[in-house]
Amino acid sequence: MTTPKNIGPEHHAVDEFSGTRTTGHEWDGIRELDTPLPRWWLYIFYACIAVAVVYWVLMPAWPMLNSYTPGTLGFSDRRNVAAEIQTLQAARKPSFERLNTATYDQIVADPQLAEFARAAGESTFGDNCRTCHGAGGAGAPGYPNLADDVWIWGGTLTDIEHTLRVGVRSTHADTRLSVMPAYGRDQLLSAREIGDVAEYVLTLSAARDRAKPDAAAAARGAAVFQQQCVACHGATGAGDRAFGAPSLTDDVWLYGGSREEVRKQIELGRGGVMPTWEARFDPAMIRALSVYVYGLGGGEPTPVAAPAAAPAPAAATTP
Ligand code: HEC
Ligand code: HEC
Repeated sequence: MTTPKNIGPEHHAVDEFSGTRTTGHEWDGIRELDTPLPRWWLYIFYACIAVAVVYWVLMPAWPMLNSYTPGTLGFSDRRNVAAEIQTLQAARKPSFERLNTATYDQIVADPQLAEFARAAGESTFGDNCRTCHGAGGAGAPGYPNLADDVWIWGGTLTDIEHTLRVGVRSTHADTRLSVMPAYGRDQLLSAREIGDVAEYVLTLSAARDRAKPDAAAAARGAAVFQQQCVACHGATGAGDRAFGAPSLTDDVWLYGGSREEVRKQIELGRGGVMPTWEARFDPAMIRALSVYVYGLGGGEPTPVAAPAAAPAPAAATTP
């Protein structure tokens, strides 16, 4: 017999072992105890219900067809965030304005302003520059390292700012521009001449220790170099910032310093593109980025204008 047999409330007998009332149900002679919930548990349960109802009234709670019940306190995370952003922007505004008007000398001399610029530049760099230049500006093949002291176009604050404003081979009207000819693809040099001049390039830096360039080929290549390459890379291969032509003597390579990679650059003359940022950021942010890049490790001091003139009158007035 499995169906419970209701024997009615008059039979809600007290269990003789536990002293608790039973529910009056009986299954095959087994009866169910009717243990009451503990008081403390019940009170907490009722309190939770009461708190929930109060919360629904005060705070945004129930979804509706187009909106939600806003609650009588008028609390809104969205409005709070918008207000916080506005406060933040208002707090930053004077610093950005000072970035705009101060000279770089003044920025560097003001630790608070310099740190503000560096921090603003760092977060913008992470969102916009890291894809190409790597974390911390460490660079990648084709994308120069910005943290070393080797510069293609120049490493003073004003050089960096100019590169950021106009870009390199970019869409900007005043872009930094120069294009190394593709000597192989455009058949300006024979394969043999390219091989020779590549051997010569490898003799110019510590790359020679790895590549062990062929002396006879390098000697022939030196003549090709004098004819074709010195206009941009200079007579000694030290490079020329006016043409954005990297130094070939420092063993720091944009495209790689192996025989294969050097030969490939001479064949193809890549011409990488650095975008212009003038349309994207206001001048203050470009200056913040410049301060950040400058501080990555390789910034060059800005040449001081006419330092020679100053000491002379001072010496004259000293008795
Ligand atoms: C689409 C890839 C790309 C992005 C994004 C990019 N760059 Fe560049 N950047 C380049 C390339 C390529 C060069 C080298 C161009 C050349 O051959 O001279 C370069 C060159 C530079 C130089 C000149 C380095 C030197 O040695 O003179 C600076 C400074 C620089 N980038 C800073 C930045 C900053 C700051 C940002 C972000 C606002 C940025 N770049 C974003 C590709 C990029
Ligand atoms: C019109 C100027 C110009 C001439 C002429 C020129 N170059 Fe270049 N060269 C550049 C520029 C600009 C770059 C930077 C890389 C790029 O974006 O193409 C470069 C890069 C290179 C590189 C890669 C350097 C690196 O760091 O990876 C090598 C190697 C090189 N040139 C060798 C030569 C040789 C050899 C010749 C002569 C046969 C030559 N170049 C002629 C402008 C020139």
